[in-house]
Amino acid sequence: MRRGEYGYDAPYALIIFGSLAAISGILAAIAWWRLPAYAAGPISLYFVLFLGNTCSFFYTTRRGKFLEWERILDRIHLRGDETVLDVGCGRGAVLTAVARRLTTGRVTGVDIWSTTDQSGNAKDVTVRNASLEGVSDRVRVETADMRMLPFADATFDLVVSSLAIHNVRSKADRRQAIIEGFRVLKPEGRIVIADIRATSAYAEALRTLKASNVERRRLGWRFWWGNPVAGTTLLTASKPLNPKSEPN
Ligand SMILES: C[S@@+](CC[C@H](N)C(=O)[O-])C[C@H]1O[C@@H](n2cnc3c(N)ncnc32)[C@H](O)[C@@H]1O
Repeated sequence: MRRGEYGYDAPYALIIFGSLAAISGILAAIAWWRLPAYAAGPISLYFVLFLGNTCSFFYTTRRGKFLEWERILDRIHLRGDETVLDVGCGRGAVLTAVARRLTTGRVTGVDIWSTTDQSGNAKDVTVRNASLEGVSDRVRVETADMRMLPFADATFDLVVSSLAIHNVRSKADRRQAIIEGFRVLKPEGRIVIADIRATSAYAEALRTLKASNVERRRLGWRFWWGNPVAGTTLLTASKPLNPKSEPN
């Protein structure tokens, strides 16, 4: 059970899907009333398509991504004493899920609080969610850009990021975010990124940095943002003890 309030990812995308479903639904109803079936049928298909996209997006942002991240975290097998960074933590969906699994460890969330990327996004909201979830003692929240993380090299045992890096506009800046995430990772630390696109470029950047165990896999329907084409991919990698001498 979640007690926090986590808003909606990419709220304008959801509004557009919902509006297209409503408009095509009205047009389909008019078409069935006024036109022959062979003309009304195709319009109804659009309605079904947009309605399906809206339902899938709504489900993923409100429930699916939480379930998938619980599974991802299950597989990571945290000991509980790790130092963790959540890059682009937003209102804290993954941040608080990680914190619940920590005992003596701590998780830090960084974000620039874009309300285009997540509705109602604000540092205060994330801090309040940590409190509502009863994990405040294990959570720190900071305002920081993922392209320039305010942490020393080799600070974290685990770096996670959910649906955040693709929001950085240019390819060079997304690569810089990966470089930063890898820089603040301790040797033998792990990086776990779920994102909707560009994960092959992230993987390439990590290989160039001599990350080991670089793996990508598609996540299931619970993490589709409307349809399978807009599915989420999970990227995992580790930092070798000596990155310079241990290529992937
Ligand atoms: C779709 S939201 C996902 C939030 C959270 N990870 C989750 O899964 O609920 C994307 C987040 O990335 C953040 N973001 C975008 N660009 C960023 C940047 N350059 N540095 C840090 N955070 C950024 C946004 O503010 C937003 O909170």
